Amino acid sequence: MIEKSLKALFEKICELTPEVLSSAPGRINIIGEHTDYNQGYVLPAAINLRIYFLVSKRDDERVFLWAENFKEEESFSLENISLSKQKRWANYIKGIFWVLKKEGFDLGGVNGLLWGDIPLEAGLSSSAALEISIINGLDELFRLNLDPEKKAFLAQKAENDFVGVKCGLMDQFISVFAQKNKAMYLDCETFRFDFIPLNLQKDELSIIVYDSRVRRELATSEYNQRRREAAEALRVLKKMGLPSFKKANLTTLEKMRKRMKEIAYKRAKHIVKENRRVKKAVRALREDNFILLGELLFLSHESLRDDYEVSCPELDLLCETGKNFPACLGARLTGAGFGGSGIALVKKAGMAAFKNKLLELAEKRGFNKPNIYEIEIGEGAKVCSLAKEDKG
Ligand code: GLA
Repeated sequence: MIEKSLKALFEKICELTPEVLSSAPGRINIIGEHTDYNQGYVLPAAINLRIYFLVSKRDDERVFLWAENFKEEESFSLENISLSKQKRWANYIKGIFWVLKKEGFDLGGVNGLLWGDIPLEAGLSSSAALEISIINGLDELFRLNLDPEKKAFLAQKAENDFVGVKCGLMDQFISVFAQKNKAMYLDCETFRFDFIPLNLQKDELSIIVYDSRVRRELATSEYNQRRREAAEALRVLKKMGLPSFKKANLTTLEKMRKRMKEIAYKRAKHIVKENRRVKKAVRALREDNFILLGELLFLSHESLRDDYEVSCPELDLLCETGKNFPACLGARLTGAGFGGSGIALVKKAGMAAFKNKLLELAEKRGFNKPNIYEIEIGEGAKVCSLAKEDKG
């Protein structure tokens, strides 16, 4: 249905038939926060909210884009790709063209239409979904033959070097590879991954997203600062003969404490403990032990609040409330933090009451009214050639 109405819109706006339809999902991260760029473990899952990209070739070197959500257009020449100050959404797309050109791929101009239902700057990875939907669409349109892993790496490069957000690879990996009703256990050192079934239905559980509606732009936030602080801690670990955070434990870290700034120690403590929690969470999920999983979620949040210092009062409220609410097994912030969203693992029977409680407390504290909704665990990026489909 979505596809049909988008196609009609494309035909109206571009006066052309689209050639390729591509889409990619946003994500939640179940656990493993700020560990991806520290070569650690993560456990994300795709959500049933996506970005869609319809595209067709042009005869010249120009790119014309229409973003239906904003009712805005942007156009640029492939010969001159520069950051846009006003239309930040366009930068993620320009970044993909920029990185593909830099890698020597032969691209031509295109007409493109974008639409999505992932809330923006809510910590649900709309940017990676945008990047992946674009790179997949261009790969199909221009027959670039990129392998899926390469797409994730190039999308990250576009975000790091063109947009200027030094993100890790979690979001791009999950957007490319996700499987329905499964979480991805990814080792961000080797980039090997495994899928872990999320048997939530069996125990009548749901995951809800709590969008705090506190928006902080990732690029200008303290995200890049956290990376620098963690890198400083890793330098000390390496000097002492430990190659990575994965190889460290709390005892070795304690021994090195005096050799690093207190802030670097706190960041390292979070990373070392969070890596362990991810492994425990994977074991818990394999055994359908949601009580243990829930406890790990709460612990992860506390560590992100106290040691990595990326939470905010609105997200802390979710966890405090969850801890005192029997139907909530666990809750934590998800994604980069500094605002954005949290997730909670909740018994279906108590979901409505939990939601009402959160709304009531948020209002009492004078917070923005949060958006609270149930999500499904969706599938990864998809692309299809419409011309081929029509002929067939
Ligand atoms: C953002 C980044 C990811 C990751 C998370 C924090 O979503 O894009 O690479 O670092 O923050 O875990």
